[in-house]
Amino acid sequence: MPPFLSYGRQQIDDDDVAAVAACLRSDWLTTGPQIDAFEAELAQRLSVPHVIVCSSGTSALHLACLAAGLGPGTVAIVPSLTFVATANAVRFAGAEVVFSDVDPLSGLMRAQDLENAIARQRDAYPDLPLIAALPVHMNGQTADMDALRDVANNAGIRLIEDACHALGAEHEIAVEGASREWRPVGSCQAGWAACFSFHPVKSITTGEGGAVVLRDDAAAARIRRLRNHGLEPAGQEDARLPEGLGPNGDYPGAYGMSEIGFNYRITDIQCALGRSQLAKLDGFVARRRALAAHYDTALPRLGDLVSRINWDARCRPAYHLYPVQIGPDAGLARGAIMQGLREQGIGTQVHYIPVHRQPYYADRYGVAELPGADAYFDRVISLPIFVDMTLADVDRVVDALGEVLVGAAA
Ligand SMILES: Cc1ncc(COP(=O)(O)O)c(C=O)c1O
Repeated sequence: MPPFLSYGRQQIDDDDVAAVAACLRSDWLTTGPQIDAFEAELAQRLSVPHVIVCSSGTSALHLACLAAGLGPGTVAIVPSLTFVATANAVRFAGAEVVFSDVDPLSGLMRAQDLENAIARQRDAYPDLPLIAALPVHMNGQTADMDALRDVANNAGIRLIEDACHALGAEHEIAVEGASREWRPVGSCQAGWAACFSFHPVKSITTGEGGAVVLRDDAAAARIRRLRNHGLEPAGQEDARLPEGLGPNGDYPGAYGMSEIGFNYRITDIQCALGRSQLAKLDGFVARRRALAAHYDTALPRLGDLVSRINWDARCRPAYHLYPVQIGPDAGLARGAIMQGLREQGIGTQVHYIPVHRQPYYADRYGVAELPGADAYFDRVISLPIFVDMTLADVDRVVDALGEVLVGAAA
């Protein structure tokens, strides 16, 4: 049996191992120089002034929600087709979630979906301010941020991009209200902030890890504080110290805490790995694009049994995932297709069960009518895509899918 192909996995080389080993032999294991360097390198790559790395994509989303002003008695809009973490981050902040629908062919929240969700928010919570919406760049493809920005500006809300799938993607976007230019996801031209994940199946990995990126100086300072228990070192501008400690503290290393924060810190060890991985991001994304292009040319031999999702020419995706939609005439339930592939050594996944259907959210809010999210979910399967795959592996997946489906149709 050839090696098992999981739907996604990390690529770790000797240079990654060496970077981590060097950090382990250094003086710093937790907050140290690797963190500053990783943040600076990400900021340069994304052309964004502030990068705050933290313990996960989930904690990045939570920090961004808090800094955007979400809290009890406020509301945020979240597309239902996402990982639970996007909505959970809003709930961690104490705010309420209104779920939006998505395009059934791409899984992305469209401007009209956001408008509809804003209308539903006004019905459901006429007295609670709507603060933010969290478009998700599903599969490493960007939502149409120009169109979403127009709706968000009209509604007076902030966009927090869930870019956990999309490090390395680029999109064509209006820059400072002028002509459209190609920019990296995370350059925050339309989004107020963007959040990344460095989980092993993502574009690069730190094991667990994440980052918030943004242009807002004050919010960035607050996110740094919230990442570390809410603590501010004495002497830092605006630091509030306990009474009697004097403006610069009475001893080196004194600190004050003016609001409650978290331990959402990432380690220097993880950032050493992140830096080594970031240096290879272009190659990783190029590889994913080549694999996706090969799927694009190989899949049509399965006819209508399987179709590609919609990919928009205004985005060069990072292809975190390669989802396909099973055709209505496939003649086999999705679970059986996944099982058939597994028996041939091919792992697949479903991204995602619409979050508004999860019992926690259904109990809290009821189940809204979101036909686009339901339709996307009903037919989607993520096929294997990861840097160490070969084009021959892609052919193997497509052949196996054909065998399972055509075998069932025969
Ligand atoms: C869309 C999306 N948002 C948020 C997250 C959370 O990221 P993490 O696992 O790093 O907490 C993920 C991770 O799977 C994700 O796919």
